[in-house]
Amino acid sequence: MIRRPRRLRVTKQIRDLVHETSIDKTDLIYPMFIIDGETEDIPSMPNIKRYSLTDLPSALDEVVSAGVGAVLYFGIPKTKDEFGSEAYNEFGIVQRAIRLTKELYPDLIVIADICLCEYTSHGHCGVIEHDCIVNDKTLPLLAKASVACAKAGADIVAPSDMMDGRVGAIRQALDENRFEDVLIMAYSVKYSSSFYGPFRDAADSAPSFGDRKSYQMDFRNKKEAIIETQLDIDEGADIIMVKPGMPYLDIAKTVSDTFSVPLAIYHVSGEYSMIKAAAQNGWIDEKSIVLESLTAMKRAGAKMLITYYAVEAAKWLEEN
Ligand code: PBG
Repeated sequence: MIRRPRRLRVTKQIRDLVHETSIDKTDLIYPMFIIDGETEDIPSMPNIKRYSLTDLPSALDEVVSAGVGAVLYFGIPKTKDEFGSEAYNEFGIVQRAIRLTKELYPDLIVIADICLCEYTSHGHCGVIEHDCIVNDKTLPLLAKASVACAKAGADIVAPSDMMDGRVGAIRQALDENRFEDVLIMAYSVKYSSSFYGPFRDAADSAPSFGDRKSYQMDFRNKKEAIIETQLDIDEGADIIMVKPGMPYLDIAKTVSDTFSVPLAIYHVSGEYSMIKAAAQNGWIDEKSIVLESLTAMKRAGAKMLITYYAVEAAKWLEEN
């Protein structure tokens, strides 16, 4: 007798009945760039903008009406210095954006990316001495940035710098300042990746010398994904992350199978721009490619998806 797996695919209704993985709007997190200045387009990321505080409210209206429940903020300050001071200025651009967002939409989850690279004159994610990124001198600055964002009303802080021990330092500083209910979403497994190229245009954060390979992970390795995640969980991470997304689903699956903490996958800027470019050329069907990609990331074990397609995807889900 022939075994007939096709019976489970015979009609749309049967397929819907047996399907294992789906995307929900509540899974989606929308990354946004906030600039201290005028709103600007980002040439390498069509449809994505650097929003001024003046234009942020109407952008948020669209996010909320599409049904996206969380945003992830990156700041682009007016001035940069060696120590990234604007990252921990209580009235810095991101802190002002957080306050404004919480006034307008108290229920929208605001996640603050915590890193120095958008704020340092050299574009590296930490303090520099003799051309080296000094881990332990960076930690208090990341902790100060986290507290400044929590004070402004951030629900979650998301350290993306890849310094060792930063989750512990941030947790301690948050707790000392009575922010014990502010969550930490740790960029636990963050590879040094060329897929971040368009982001560095968007955030004006390309390093002025060298690269990030002495702190971000080597993409030839898998085992250190376990160590990095374990350390972050031990130090107090509430949510863990794998980044980039699509080319790293093997890593996401391993991390998801190994740990019980909710996992986010970051579908990064290069992945977004590749799909957009092909779609603009009419070479692919954008909607179905995006929904298939996001579903694949959930199938690999993600609970949350950070994607520049969040708002569009939420609208497409409504149509389905
Ligand atoms: C900051 C940061 C980066 C991204 C998120 N946070 C860039 C980098 O590490 O160079 C990348 C996001 C993307 O490509 O969409 N450290």
